[in-house]
Amino acid sequence: MTKAFNKYLITAALPYANGPVHIGHLAGCYLPADIYVRYLKAKGKEVLFICGSDEHGVPITIKAKKESITPQQVVDKYHLIMKQAFADFGIDFTYYGRTSSETHKETAQLFFQKLYDKGVFKEAITSQFYDEAAQQFLADRYVTGTCPKCSSPGAYGDQCEKCGASLNATELINPTSTLSGNPPILKETKNWFLPMGEIQDSADFKHYIQRIDSWKSNIKGQCNSWLSEGLQPRAMTRDLDWGVPVPLPEAEGKVLYVWFDAPIGYISATKEYLKQQGRSGEFESYWNNEETALVHFIGKDNIVFHAIIFPMMLMTHGNFNLPVNIPANEFLNLEGDKISTSKNWAVWLHEYLTDLPDRQDELRYVLTSISPETKDSEFTWKDYQTRVNSELVSIFGNFVNRVAVLCQKFYDGHIPASVSCNTDLYVKALDVLTADINASIESMENNLNQVKIRDAQADWMNIARAGNKFLAETEPWKLVKTDPETVKAILFEAVQLCAKLSIAAQVFLPKTAQKLAEMFGMNNLSWNLLGVNQIVLPGQALGKVEILFKQIEDELVASQIQKLNEKRTQPTGVTPELPGPKPEITFEDFSKIDLRIGKVIAAERVPKADKLLKLKVDLGFEERTILSGIAEFYTPETMLGKQVVVVVNLAPRKIRGIESQGMLLMAGDGKNELVSIVPEQGIMPGSEIK
Ligand code: 2FM
Ligand code: ZN
Repeated sequence: MTKAFNKYLITAALPYANGPVHIGHLAGCYLPADIYVRYLKAKGKEVLFICGSDEHGVPITIKAKKESITPQQVVDKYHLIMKQAFADFGIDFTYYGRTSSETHKETAQLFFQKLYDKGVFKEAITSQFYDEAAQQFLADRYVTGTCPKCSSPGAYGDQCEKCGASLNATELINPTSTLSGNPPILKETKNWFLPMGEIQDSADFKHYIQRIDSWKSNIKGQCNSWLSEGLQPRAMTRDLDWGVPVPLPEAEGKVLYVWFDAPIGYISATKEYLKQQGRSGEFESYWNNEETALVHFIGKDNIVFHAIIFPMMLMTHGNFNLPVNIPANEFLNLEGDKISTSKNWAVWLHEYLTDLPDRQDELRYVLTSISPETKDSEFTWKDYQTRVNSELVSIFGNFVNRVAVLCQKFYDGHIPASVSCNTDLYVKALDVLTADINASIESMENNLNQVKIRDAQADWMNIARAGNKFLAETEPWKLVKTDPETVKAILFEAVQLCAKLSIAAQVFLPKTAQKLAEMFGMNNLSWNLLGVNQIVLPGQALGKVEILFKQIEDELVASQIQKLNEKRTQPTGVTPELPGPKPEITFEDFSKIDLRIGKVIAAERVPKADKLLKLKVDLGFEERTILSGIAEFYTPETMLGKQVVVVVNLAPRKIRGIESQGMLLMAGDGKNELVSIVPEQGIMPGSEIK
């Protein structure tokens, strides 16, 4: 991407709403996207950051079958869990939509209709596997059999997991339907195909595809290999009952191919967001404007869909920007193995936060340090410990803390005066420091512009390293008795460095940046201040000084590894045994309960009570203190600002000496799972629930 843009539409792959989020998701796509977006915003660019849940496709129906619930129930459950996990880790989407929304259905159908009306699709009748007992066509994943390439049993209709070969279901030896266990029959069916081979030869596509030459090598490699083999037509409609219905009278019972509807999710989510903001008129300025950069963040398994198929859809439709970059990442492995949801070999974000509350930035830091940008990389708990202890604690935390403590000690918690100082020691050390940090800042910017977040974060840490070197060389704690003026100059410079660290940290470690900014009394974190000498002014009082990072102990590493190994054999998301229904009540009984919407306006832990949070809840008509046994599932930070459902006429009771004036409604067994019941959209505190 060589052209400079002022406006950006950044998308992150819509994750399938069929399970919670794990560290592989974060490292592979959402964290790099978030860092890039935070950087662009700090630079003052106009950015929309769009994501949402991919709620169609076979992964959802398979999960529903496994859990004996409907696909809608699956997506309703995981949509919220995923949205919350992203928010908990500071992934700052402008909008997180979902592909089961009405806007999405309408947008995807209109898109299909336009291509249909333009005569883009080719209709074809093909033979597909059909399960006579289940009376339905079988998606590739619903057929298993012996792999024609390596002869292993249990290969899926689209891929053999043993040898990795991509397959067509009809190639399988002894195919079996996973629905009934019977051999499927072949049955003819009509579908609508995108003639990818023809589009590949079009002038528009040839012009577009030149862009990939300046993109990452994984994109180039995969695209060139697909293109050189020649693209085959691909069905954009499927014989399934879960998805967006095909908007043609003759296509009853068929839905849009999930890879047709999912990327349109970026478009529909933008529409939905702008509509909610009363800014619908701006849609074209994001999606149909050559001054806006469209950038897709994805994992490597999504490359062909974003670099070839979706652009083909956009260009045949017309009036849409094509991507200017697709920074696709490779995969993250875990403790020597592939991350696997089905084998429960993963570090789940919600579990991480339960075990390591408030330590989001530690995970962000480590995952960015090992970001699988150019090849697969690996997360281990031991490496996590090393990086936290020897980098975040010993280099960054140590520098910042030393500066703050020295200001407290020498200047009564204020920033020292800015004095001119010519001592040899100071001048020499400052020269080195200035050269070091200028080089680091320049390199960090270059790397961020190229979405090399791993190197950019290393540059950031180098700024703290340079700070430690500066203090070690000048030793202000020794000079303070003999040369207080030089000490003032040293610490003034060191404080400015902390300010720069905070400005740059906002893109990598947002919570830490905020704490640091409060510590040094900064309220402006714009990126251009990195080029300014005096960011924090002399005489200003320090805010609350706190230790930013704590050591990770060996016990924690051992217990996390043990937990991984123990859970490997258990199914994901342990399903608790459900109690039967309680005895019947009358409507009068029910209507005695006064349920209202509340908004959490303050939240804190209750000392010595691991399970309790003390919340202040705005109920519109008054504010109440409510104790809730949710601390193992929610941090005070995640509750803050949340809308909740409150039983407001429950008799108050004292818990741990504090009067609780109501109760929050929660779902789950409170052991494995507990989720708060929230209104679907923001609504006025105090609103009645009937
Ligand atoms: O691989 C996946 O998880 C897909 N749900 C990604 C979809 S990205 C886009 F097309 F929406
Ligand atoms: Zn095989």
